[in-house]
Amino acid sequence: TSKTLPTQACDQIEITPNARRVLEKRYLRKDSRGRVIETPEGLFRRVAKALAAAELIYDPKADVAAKEEELFGVMSRLEFLPNSPTLLNAGKKNGQLAACFALPVEDSVEGIFDAMKYTALIHKSGGGTGFSFSRLRPAGDSVDGEAGIAGGPVNFLNALSIASDVIRQGGVRRGCSIGLLSVHHPDILKFIAAKDDPMALTNFCISVAITDAFMDSLDKGTDYDLINPRTGKVTGHLNAVEVFKKIVAQSWKTGDPGLVFIDRINRGNPTPNLGPIETVTGCAEQALLPYESCNLGSINLAKMVKTDGSKSVVDYEKLGTVIKTAINLLDNVIDVNHYPLPQIEEVTKKTRKIGLGVMGFADMLVLLGIPYDSGEAVKIAEYVMAFITDTAHDASEELAKKRGVFPAWKGSVWDAPVGRPQRHASCTTVAPTGTISLIAGCNVGIEPFYATVFVRNVLDGENLLEINPYFEAAARHQGFYSGDLLQELVTCADLQKAESVPDTVKRVFATSNRISPEAHVRIQAAFQRHTDGAVSKMTNVPNTTTPQEQADIFLFGYREGVKGITLYRDASRELESLCADEKA
Ligand code: CDP
Repeated sequence: TSKTLPTQACDQIEITPNARRVLEKRYLRKDSRGRVIETPEGLFRRVAKALAAAELIYDPKADVAAKEEELFGVMSRLEFLPNSPTLLNAGKKNGQLAACFALPVEDSVEGIFDAMKYTALIHKSGGGTGFSFSRLRPAGDSVDGEAGIAGGPVNFLNALSIASDVIRQGGVRRGCSIGLLSVHHPDILKFIAAKDDPMALTNFCISVAITDAFMDSLDKGTDYDLINPRTGKVTGHLNAVEVFKKIVAQSWKTGDPGLVFIDRINRGNPTPNLGPIETVTGCAEQALLPYESCNLGSINLAKMVKTDGSKSVVDYEKLGTVIKTAINLLDNVIDVNHYPLPQIEEVTKKTRKIGLGVMGFADMLVLLGIPYDSGEAVKIAEYVMAFITDTAHDASEELAKKRGVFPAWKGSVWDAPVGRPQRHASCTTVAPTGTISLIAGCNVGIEPFYATVFVRNVLDGENLLEINPYFEAAARHQGFYSGDLLQELVTCADLQKAESVPDTVKRVFATSNRISPEAHVRIQAAFQRHTDGAVSKMTNVPNTTTPQEQADIFLFGYREGVKGITLYRDASRELESLCADEKA
């Protein structure tokens, strides 16, 4: 284990003890004996310096020092953080800075094993991957004219999972992967059940790529086509209702598969001129072309609230300034990044997609006094995200005027019908922010609070008592703070049953298990309506939910317009798999 050198006096950054632990364990530089030799300030300085240097590519007279201060400022004030690979690797030799990648899996032995090798390279460099298996011929199909020998998508999915299991990102964490298969693939039933065995695919999420044609058949209760991707021929039919029931039953039991509405995603594809989108990325927040990568960054909404007289309001002026800096920072990441493969560099630089998103939405709501499960929360989600996406596009246009439009702009939707210069094919996405929210000390992504008082199992098995700081402040201010209350909350963990807590406080601090699945979905959809990419959201449903209710939530999500939806029924399976070592 690493030892910490005495903190340098210059380290002025206000971070929580948990954030410091995460940084020391994974992000700060270490010497050959494993001793931490970087402070949090040093980390943000290293990242700011490396990214500010990219200004010179476009303007040899650029004021690099001023840019470095600007980038350092937003990070060190914890107003904005780029994704983990940028924090870890910027300023290091051959540093790989992007979090998400999409890989095609071609229908050939070479193609499949190339995908395996590329996955290892991407995970080693700190990224996560999304794959579509839809191009693979079904199990038992002919190979070189010989019938009955093809392995099929599920076999290769298992092989890929086992191979990626042994690779740790930068030696510290396992990469997230997601595998998609078209609902029209002849092996779809096998795929739906691929995670039935709890030991299978432990570092893979799976989702079914759902088409409009399937949804139409589901609506009418009719059969739909199964198509062999090798021949393009219809090989059979299944009843849409029966298949949907199987998806729901499996999701109810294990949490997988989720649904990805692939036609909806392609209607939002900004570069149809480069071909269709086949998959989303590791935690489903970004839809990418084959070999495309994307770097992410998130604004801490907890820092975007100000008081106006006696009221708390969103500080749109500050938010606007941070968005502009963030877009500039993320654009620079594309240029200083070292890509794991030449094909990835080529596609990424053609579209220059970036993923600006948010974290600390629950913090913002509490500061504004708005319950998560309310119409007002949906409104705030819409206003804030619309503002972020509009301002991001303005900033992208400004950069396009100075640095040029993204190379595939001609023929993209920005060329026509929109008719607007843009530096990036898409600018916004809502990432999970599993680790960077810990560093920023805010609640994760757009999720509600998980608990008000809880014991956090920190890396290395240490336990820390954590009290939601806003709850503590409210309790002290309103005079109901007591040791007994904390004890009561940490043991039974249900704020709603605590007698000493006023109802108004209970309503604003309602935790995720008290938020209805529909409310989760409404918030996801509200963000989605104003996000270029997709929105990563964990929708918890109570353990007592029936499969029929779970089916209704999936369909509610579809009607609300989400691009993908995954449901986790509490305690249906210990969430051991994806990113488990991420939940510090
Ligand atoms: O907070 P952080 O920047 O570490 O990451 P995140 O927002 O939780 O996840 C963003 C992306 O990073 C995911 O979509 C994955 O592609 C990738 N990731 C991964 O590969 N492995 C993990 N353990 C966590 C994230």
